[in-house]
Amino acid sequence: MNKTKTGIKGFDDLLNGGIPTGSIVLVSGTPGTGKTIFGLEYLYRGALNDEKGLFITFEEPKSNIAEQAMQFGWDLEKLEKKNILHIQHISSKTITNATLKEIVNFVKKEKIKRLVIDSISTLALSIPTIHNKVTEITDFAIKRFLHQFLEDLRDFADTTTLLIGQTTSEKHLSTDEVSEFIADGIIHILYESLGRDYSRSLIIRKMRKVKNDEDIHPLEISKTGLTVHTLK
Ligand SMILES: Nc1ncnc2c1ncn2[C@@H]1O[C@H](COP(=O)(O)OP(=O)(O)OP(=O)(O)O)[C@@H](O)[C@H]1O
Ligand SMILES: [Mg+2]
Repeated sequence: MNKTKTGIKGFDDLLNGGIPTGSIVLVSGTPGTGKTIFGLEYLYRGALNDEKGLFITFEEPKSNIAEQAMQFGWDLEKLEKKNILHIQHISSKTITNATLKEIVNFVKKEKIKRLVIDSISTLALSIPTIHNKVTEITDFAIKRFLHQFLEDLRDFADTTTLLIGQTTSEKHLSTDEVSEFIADGIIHILYESLGRDYSRSLIIRKMRKVKNDEDIHPLEISKTGLTVHTLK
């Protein structure tokens, strides 16, 4: 089985070498847990290895993303100039059905190996705008729409996708209630109080096709990026 190494320190060992290539993996967590940084580091490390990446953000302008990455010394613009990395900001106001088709076509045409969607939650919120029927759209229609988009992505056996999902509480894995079931894997990032301090941790909730580690791991954001620690 082919594996895609995230390149995030300490992470790939938890999956015996990486994420099974072709998987769609949900990276979920409450605000400020480090989901966007996780997605950026995954693309950055891949790009250094000549794996083409695409970061779609519905959340933040491109300049924010570039600045956040630069904090860790990741020069995304340089990689964009080399055509090995693409960062696209799509305002949720302008998303249409055609936008999603364009994303799928771009992945195909450019042979994108690593795709990050930041976030699937904002995309789900934008679906009523896509249909232009804000009052009539049902939860069911939103779920079907997301399902179709993810099925289209699933056709790409060489593309490993991270769907970033925002949750409002630790009880939920996604806010759309679709991506967590469709996804082949779920990486959940927690931000919890430990006595008087807050700390981050990461757990792999599922990963189809491999035996995943089931422990909770401290997650550190340092000057050079993320590190997943093992306590044992
Ligand atoms: N250079 C840095 N060094 C250490 N920690 C940092 C650094 N830059 C950002 N952080 C931490 O990472 C957090 C932001 O991470 P990120 O943007 O990935 O979160 P997120 O999970 O995507 O949040 P949201 O759901 O709001 O989009 C900040 O709140 C801050 O605590
Ligand atoms: Mg984010």
